[in-house]
Amino acid sequence: MLDFDMIIRGGTVVTAGDTMRCDVGIRDGRIAALGTDLGRAAETVDAHGMLVMPGGIDSHVHLAQPSAPGIVSADDFETGTRSAAFGGTTTVMPFCMQERDQSLREALKIYHARAEDACYVDTSFHLIIADPTASVLGQELPALVEEGYTSLKIYMTYAGLALKDGEILEVLSAARRTGSLVMVHAENDDVIRFLTDQLERDGKTAPYYHALSRPVPAEREATHRAITLAEVVDVPIVIVHVSNAEARDEIARANARGLNIVGETCPQYLMLTASDLEGLDMEGAKYVCSPPPRDRSSQEACWEGLARGTFALYSSDHCAFRYNDPAGKLNAKGRSSFRWVPNGVPGIAARLPILFSEGVIKGRISLQQFVALTATNHARTYGLYPRKGSIAIGSDADIAIWDPERQVTITHDLLHDGADYTPYEGLQVTGWPVSTMVRGRFVVRDGDLVGAKGFGEHVARTKG
Ligand code: URP
Ligand code: ZN
Ligand code: ZN
Repeated sequence: MLDFDMIIRGGTVVTAGDTMRCDVGIRDGRIAALGTDLGRAAETVDAHGMLVMPGGIDSHVHLAQPSAPGIVSADDFETGTRSAAFGGTTTVMPFCMQERDQSLREALKIYHARAEDACYVDTSFHLIIADPTASVLGQELPALVEEGYTSLKIYMTYAGLALKDGEILEVLSAARRTGSLVMVHAENDDVIRFLTDQLERDGKTAPYYHALSRPVPAEREATHRAITLAEVVDVPIVIVHVSNAEARDEIARANARGLNIVGETCPQYLMLTASDLEGLDMEGAKYVCSPPPRDRSSQEACWEGLARGTFALYSSDHCAFRYNDPAGKLNAKGRSSFRWVPNGVPGIAARLPILFSEGVIKGRISLQQFVALTATNHARTYGLYPRKGSIAIGSDADIAIWDPERQVTITHDLLHDGADYTPYEGLQVTGWPVSTMVRGRFVVRDGDLVGAKGFGEHVARTKG
């Protein structure tokens, strides 16, 4: 009788706590043994010279999510999860967005239908609460938390999504009662509206002015306010997509005071600056996202936040729109003002190679920090641990096999998403995930897509 379905042999296994030379035995989709001389398996994978790491968990992803009338997301669940697999990610956490006057159950039905039979890797939905009525917070949310939807996002900006402070307090207190975790998009909506109106009156409508319409103080103030509201209710929160030192320091100060505030940053804040929005003609629209990329010192601040642990999470905030498309960045209204350029950049596949190359290879973070920031901390924060996020006996065999020396020039065609560009075109990286496996089955093997569409499952979560 065979001992395992598969043994990954000869690689260097990396977790958030350790680096060790050992083989990985996989049985029934789970890691069953770690060690040497494990025995016989139906299949042996040679990983000599490779790093064997937990597959990435991307806990901030927008797939098939409407943004405005006539605007279409570039990625659905098929293309988004396919791209994730090519980038070494094995679990993505997309959003299920409630519309005003819609129940959470209705929204979930729609998003589950979009994801059904479409996913290459595992998924787990966060809710977006846009309409925090008494029945949503008092009846629907408690039931859904028990069913494994244990986190939700709220917005302090964007028409149709922004909540007032009183509503935020109600959501936070429902989160405290139910044990769910709130992710906050922190930007001051009134500041953004005021500056957007003013810029438009002055004829400053090119994509670059998007960055000026959402300055650092708008993010810092909202971050401070969100933390204050969480302190009043006495509940942990996640501040997502932090772009600069001032917002980062609000989080660090709060944690130093004994609060539990989790910070997240994203590749766009490490690699891009506002000057990328200055491209010729409408080229800058490719980089329009919120908060906007800032400057070099903000990039350094975000790297420091990752290295020091102020940011426990490094996610993509993948929110892709095609560039050269009337349903994307170059929609007719978008050409008339940055106000109408859909916000968001692709990054689901480039996320890990960027952090590996710019972070580990350049000595900014350790391999252990890489694994923690890209997988383990996401699993712990959002209730997927220990099923996911580590290479440990009993965990799902969600594994990315990395060639740490491979030199790759990032081009859009390597990423396999539904967009028509990458903000990181031409970036040279060292280290690449050559194979990605979900629950013991290869999805990408030696650079080829071998997984089955529909193999990815939705995962219910515990309270994080
Ligand atoms: O510009 C961004 N970040 N778009 C995605 C939606 C969000 O706020 O996360
Ligand atoms: Zn956001
Ligand atoms: Zn987002």
